[in-house]
Amino acid sequence: MILRNVRPYGEDAVDVRIADGRITEIGPGLDGDDDVLDGGGLIALPGLVDLHTHLREPGREDAETVETGSRAAALGGYTAVHAMANTDPVADTAGVVEQVWRLGQEAGLVDVVPVGAVTVGLGGEQLAELGAMADSAARVRVFSDDGHCVADPALMRRALEYVKALDGVVAQHAEEPRLTVGAQMNEGERSARLGLAGWPAAAEEAVIARDVLLAQHVGARLHVCHVSTAGSVDILRWAKARGVQVTAEVTPHHLLLTDALAETYDPVYKVNPPLRTDADVQALRAGLADGTIDAVATDHAPHAVEDKESEWAAARPGMLGLEQALAIVVQTMVEPGLLDWRGVADRMSVRPAVIGRLETHGRPLAVGEPANLLLLDPAHSSVVDPAALASRSRNSPYAGRELPGRVVATFLRGVPTVLDGKATK
Ligand code: DOR
Ligand code: ZN
Repeated sequence: MILRNVRPYGEDAVDVRIADGRITEIGPGLDGDDDVLDGGGLIALPGLVDLHTHLREPGREDAETVETGSRAAALGGYTAVHAMANTDPVADTAGVVEQVWRLGQEAGLVDVVPVGAVTVGLGGEQLAELGAMADSAARVRVFSDDGHCVADPALMRRALEYVKALDGVVAQHAEEPRLTVGAQMNEGERSARLGLAGWPAAAEEAVIARDVLLAQHVGARLHVCHVSTAGSVDILRWAKARGVQVTAEVTPHHLLLTDALAETYDPVYKVNPPLRTDADVQALRAGLADGTIDAVATDHAPHAVEDKESEWAAARPGMLGLEQALAIVVQTMVEPGLLDWRGVADRMSVRPAVIGRLETHGRPLAVGEPANLLLLDPAHSSVVDPAALASRSRNSPYAGRELPGRVVATFLRGVPTVLDGKATK
């Protein structure tokens, strides 16, 4: 197949030939009797890699399945997603991670890479069988109790020692649980006024500070999930300057939305960690721009209507992200000049793939590389309609917003998973 007239990383238009799952030729005026997709100046980027997706299978297939979440991911331009371990049963054994991995292969829309739980049942007390998950067919390298913090420092230290031996990483949901009992939103003047229990920035920052010291002591890799405060960015900058092997992610929603939205009392804006202040948003954008924050990760968190459309305090935290992530990054980072297209590729594909140790994703758009890529129309914009999403859930915080860019096509190993903005299966 020839992709005619596409712009790799937004640069000069070229033709790209794909054969046998790889990019075999790049240049002007390619010929042959292959299928031709007329790119008309679309931007080509490496297929996106998500480090943080909740697919809800097994256990909550009414909210999302591996297949529906994979479709949402492909439509968002993703070719690989890490499936978080807080399923039911928890992905804390080789059996469960292999099941999720197999379901991903069967859906065939993105590579579904299971995350393994750090502790048995996410209980925070006993280490799960990290080695068995790493050695399984799912080849787990990212371990996380996400949804819960590995709060016990001795257990966290032990986990770091294990993942070091496995060339893995602990992805920490940084939340000191004693500081967030009953918390409903960002702690500040607004939470006081709204009468909602606050989630202080220090609950996140204290755990990150502790964990970078532990990672340095052990000499292991630490990844910090969904960084949400300016203080966290400062701690990460400090740790990286000292040579700590720490990486971090920020979500699209924390790059765009603030705690002002809690004033609506609409639980679609309830998320953990909570939406923060405008100053935090600016610091997160700056941290992503200068590389202190390595990656954008969606924390795509589908919830069934009955778990989300209730009063604020009873609603589950979490929001959808896969289908709009790239658009949010375009709006918050590319349009203001904070990232160029190579920067987008770096933060949404290259670095997440390196953190997850995925060898065939996050590769450059170059001859010989696997043909995992997306085509984006940057000039197109559209209004988000939750009813039109591929996700099985509807809890999008972007409903009614006009967002830039449209993923026209996604290719997984040369096979289109999205064409003309529609999933191919
Ligand atoms: O908002 C969130 N939702 N934060 C988490 O850490 C977990 C996630 C979920 O599983 O719904
Ligand atoms: Zn989390």
